[in-house]
Amino acid sequence: MKYLLPVVTAAIILSSCGGNDAQQKTEESSSSQSAQTANGNPSYDPNRGEGKFTHVEVGAALDAAKAEAGDKVYAVKCGSCHKLSDEKLVGPGWKGVTTRHSAEWIMNFITNPDEMLDKDPKAQAMLEICLVRMPNQNLTDEDARNVFEFMRKNDGVK
Ligand code: HEC
Repeated sequence: MKYLLPVVTAAIILSSCGGNDAQQKTEESSSSQSAQTANGNPSYDPNRGEGKFTHVEVGAALDAAKAEAGDKVYAVKCGSCHKLSDEKLVGPGWKGVTTRHSAEWIMNFITNPDEMLDKDPKAQAMLEICLVRMPNQNLTDEDARNVFEFMRKNDGVK
């Protein structure tokens, strides 16, 4: 009689890499200037992230010129890994990204991904799914602001 070894079936988990699922969390609502924790440590602010941008002026209406310039940065430096839909490519799709993070968080992340991936819970959660560390794209401050405006346009700001 044959003895059948148990077969272990690896479950392939198809995940949308930081898209619209369960990890849409509660931190979102708080403002970007919140969170100094009590412990006396200079606290890490997960709403703002780690980097040079502490306050970004964002208009109610779209700045079309910035968005246009941001589109060009996207085409050259980001499009190989990010779709504009909510579909994952190498990194998460950008649909809704401006509602998932503050302007400061996004601009700090895209100019300082290494440090953010070392410290930031949301960035680390994405890394666990994507398994690729987003490389530093050497954006200027202006590039970063323009790309952010392009993301707002992609999210329907007019
Ligand atoms: C080599 C692939 C790659 C390139 C190029 C790339 N990214 Fe990423 N990006 C990623 C990955 C992967 C993640 C998820 C975090 C991680 O695993 O490092 C990510 C995450 C992000 C996030 C957070 C997304 C979310 O849904 O929360 C933003 C914003 C972002 N990238 C912006 C940019 C911008 C802007 C550029 C171009 C200047 C760019 N990325 C270029 C791979 C890339």
